[in-house]
Amino acid sequence: MSKTKQFHVAVVGATGAVGQQMLSILEQRDFPLASLKLLASARSAGKKVMFKGNEYTLEEATPEAFEGVDIALFSAGGSVSTKLVPEAIKRGTLCIDNTSAFRMDPDVPLVVPEVNPDKIFDNNGVIANPNCSTIQMVAALKPLYDKYGMDRIVVSTYQAVSGAGAKAIQELVDQSQAVLNGDEVKKEVLPVGSLPVKHQIAFNAIPQIDVFLDNGFTNEEMKMIRETKKIYGDESIKVSATCVRIPVERGHAESVYVELKEDFEMADVMALFANAPGVIVQDKPEEQVYPMPADATGKIEVFVGRVRRDLDYPKGLHMWVVSDNLLKGAAWNAVQIAEEWIKRQ
Ligand code: A2P
Repeated sequence: MSKTKQFHVAVVGATGAVGQQMLSILEQRDFPLASLKLLASARSAGKKVMFKGNEYTLEEATPEAFEGVDIALFSAGGSVSTKLVPEAIKRGTLCIDNTSAFRMDPDVPLVVPEVNPDKIFDNNGVIANPNCSTIQMVAALKPLYDKYGMDRIVVSTYQAVSGAGAKAIQELVDQSQAVLNGDEVKKEVLPVGSLPVKHQIAFNAIPQIDVFLDNGFTNEEMKMIRETKKIYGDESIKVSATCVRIPVERGHAESVYVELKEDFEMADVMALFANAPGVIVQDKPEEQVYPMPADATGKIEVFVGRVRRDLDYPKGLHMWVVSDNLLKGAAWNAVQIAEEWIKRQ
């Protein structure tokens, strides 16, 4: 990346599960920082965080905090973004928002750089980062979509608890210890639904992520459905999703079934995946090689394996897609958008 220009950057939600990964990615990528501001709630103000060997003091995220900030990466929840993104825009800040607050706003680009990078430059001050499960799926499927067209996607997810934040990670650890010790299991965080009802996640699977809607789908499932159509710019594509929380700390896995519009050869499909930007193929069944969350943790790519033609429908294709939900699904996609934007400044 060009180092000639440097940028004043703020991370909003810097103490959170995604915010911490944003800091680590900014550090690893040697991002051209003129300054860095770490923002969180008033509870965290004054606390210290290390970045590149220097100590930074957390500040409360207020409208005034955005004075002089060129780029703000938001991951502090939808209500914080709803309140502060307009304030930051007023002060000339480009906001890259990891919450769902603006994703479906027709005036806000929803961007996965491997899929629709040009939309980055069609913004009114805010660019939305899609839902973690959507990002890895659309990035993996993009070359198939371009070459063959796509009629339908049916996806079932196996999602890590870190998607529900730092408290959910702690809940998985605490519950697992309690089960192994034979202690009482406390259920306080998952699922994050509309009712106070909570379920055990340790040694379990919960088929609910976010609230239920009147159509029987959850909000997470509807995010995958709506966001996929928006990112591909194609309302005709049929999408359905079942989203499940599993007791994994990091890395979402997805069983994806697609029906393509045209006939395909398996060798061509595998070559497309092998050449797709940001995608790594791990598919050697004879050696029991396939993507898994434990291997994807800490990596920025999307991993694809178990690729096979449907036995009854020749234009149908099954695959298994895994990625680190905190990185490509959140922090890395946001920083990648910022890097693409910077290239044209
Ligand atoms: P804090 O640690 O001060 O509460 P996670 O998704 O892992 O739960 O993280 C949520 C992030 O959002 C944290 O950094 C949290 O900061 C931040 N946050 C929560 N509420 C606010 C708020 N009202 N203003 C700014 N940041 C907030």
